[in-house]
Amino acid sequence: MSRTQALTASEPAPRSSLRRLMARGPALAALAAVALGTAGCSVKGGDNANLIVGKQQFVAKCGSCHTLARGETKGVVGPNLDEAFRASLNEGATRDTVRGVVEKQIQIPNPEGAMPKNLVSGATAKDVSAYVAQVVSKSGKDSGLLATAVQAPGAGKPAVEKGGKLSIAASPSGQLAYVTNKASASPGAVTVEMPNMSGVAHNIAIETGEGGATAKGSKIGASPFTTKTTATVNVTLKPGSYTFFCEAPGHRQAGMYGTLTVK
Ligand code: HEC
Repeated sequence: MSRTQALTASEPAPRSSLRRLMARGPALAALAAVALGTAGCSVKGGDNANLIVGKQQFVAKCGSCHTLARGETKGVVGPNLDEAFRASLNEGATRDTVRGVVEKQIQIPNPEGAMPKNLVSGATAKDVSAYVAQVVSKSGKDSGLLATAVQAPGAGKPAVEKGGKLSIAASPSGQLAYVTNKASASPGAVTVEMPNMSGVAHNIAIETGEGGATAKGSKIGASPFTTKTTATVNVTLKPGSYTFFCEAPGHRQAGMYGTLTVK
């Protein structure tokens, strides 16, 4: 059982993320204490953090496991970060403190947990922590340059079958999405290929009907899971609508699906 599960099981009222982290060890407690002591100076530009890089790297390296509304990530392996920090922020923790906590978490995750350590390091770890601290638990959407730092999931050019081949790439930035949520093909035998250049394991499955985020029709085929290579699946298509989606737990629900129109 992970520490998070242990805490959830033993404590009816969820403790704030900050206190949980402070409970982890003297180093973290000291860090949080120092950070709490400093005035709540603006996160923007602090330590010259680059928030654009921070957002891009968060989406690429963290978003497959964590939900962060402003980052438009919907991972469910780790805690929802908006919820994890809301209580601490409401209790008066500054965003600077949150930043220090996130940076420490990147360096020292729970050894029994699923989070690998040092997914980002050095200046990039600072950028990611600064971005998370700036936007976590905030409503609304990122604006200005941050709004366009990462391509909207699924917004790419529709995929079109040619000569029996249909290529639908997984988001190279690690988002839980294919680059497009629209594809078309003519009826008959089609090889569907999914290049996945990200480090997040995905596959591509095809189902009859337009199910969207939830299973509805029947599955006619699925590729193996892959990272950093291309996976393929052969299917025979009839005129009508199909859904393509990723079968990794939580990915379809997070928006990793699209519609395949056959005519
Ligand atoms: C493979 C999945 C995975 C990835 C990738 C991942 N995390 Fe985590 N994360 C977890 C899990 C599981 C936990 C809970 C266990 C723990 O505390 O280590 C967690 C905990 C956290 C926490 C503490 C939240 C709390 O409630 O106390 C923060 C902050 C965090 N992660 C930030 C990040 C950042 C930033 C990145 C990217 C650099 C990242 N995570 C990448 C799985 C992941």
